[in-house]
Amino acid sequence: MGFAEADISRLLASSLIDRIDYHPTIGSTNDRAREIAGAVPYKQVVLILADEQTAGRGRGTNRWWTGEGSLAFSLLLDPGAHGIERRHYAMIALAAAVAIVDTASPLLPDVTVGLHWPNDVFVGERKLAGILVEALPDGRHIVGIGANVNNSLAAAPPELSSIVTTLSDVAGQHFDRCELLLRLLANLRLTLDQLANSPAALGLRSHHLCLQRGRTLTVQWADRQTTGVCQGIADDGALLLDTPGGPQTIYSGVIVKA
Ligand code: BTN
Repeated sequence: MGFAEADISRLLASSLIDRIDYHPTIGSTNDRAREIAGAVPYKQVVLILADEQTAGRGRGTNRWWTGEGSLAFSLLLDPGAHGIERRHYAMIALAAAVAIVDTASPLLPDVTVGLHWPNDVFVGERKLAGILVEALPDGRHIVGIGANVNNSLAAAPPELSSIVTTLSDVAGQHFDRCELLLRLLANLRLTLDQLANSPAALGLRSHHLCLQRGRTLTVQWADRQTTGVCQGIADDGALLLDTPGGPQTIYSGVIVKA
């Protein structure tokens, strides 16, 4: 079932957002954010929300499965208006990941919810949510979040069924997506505030929530690959790897082997 008018009114009352652009079906909420950005006043925060995406995008060339009952949305926002310094923009994805963990953890008290650098949320060994942050030339950012909520793995594409999970599959119950989104927006407001006022504290939280610590990871960054044992996440959001050649700090990259 889609979001009702009453849900949209409740979401509009969230302190983080000024406007909602809701679609029962759309290609990608991130693409829609880019399309409407020119017509949105710079300081306005817009929530682009969809029940179904026909062309949901993941990082790189990946596609994103938006199963029925999942949560798919993007926020169009100006990080500067939230007091976030330009040098910390790369940590926006971590702020979103921590907010998702803070939202999901209380609902799943018996399992470990944490994050995988650079911006995935995992329940144990399976992916619960993904984040796609894109910067616009004018400095605004699109923060796209896809979270598996009431969509069942039984309906997932076969290639995903062993690597993803959903809130309802883990908890054995359905969740009110509007309530969940309200909590997530409230938590996101807190983590964005933390990124503005105390970025190192957000880095430290990410470090504690990082489930990759102690694991051997191979990261593709720029035109090279680095393999090492993950030591967690630095205060500034970088990945810390202990490699045979010594400690390495990686600011942006893709985990190609874990
Ligand atoms: C990833 O894990 O690679 C990132 C997935 C991000 C998916 C979300 S769903 C809402 C928004 N719209 C998109 O097309 N992608 C993001």
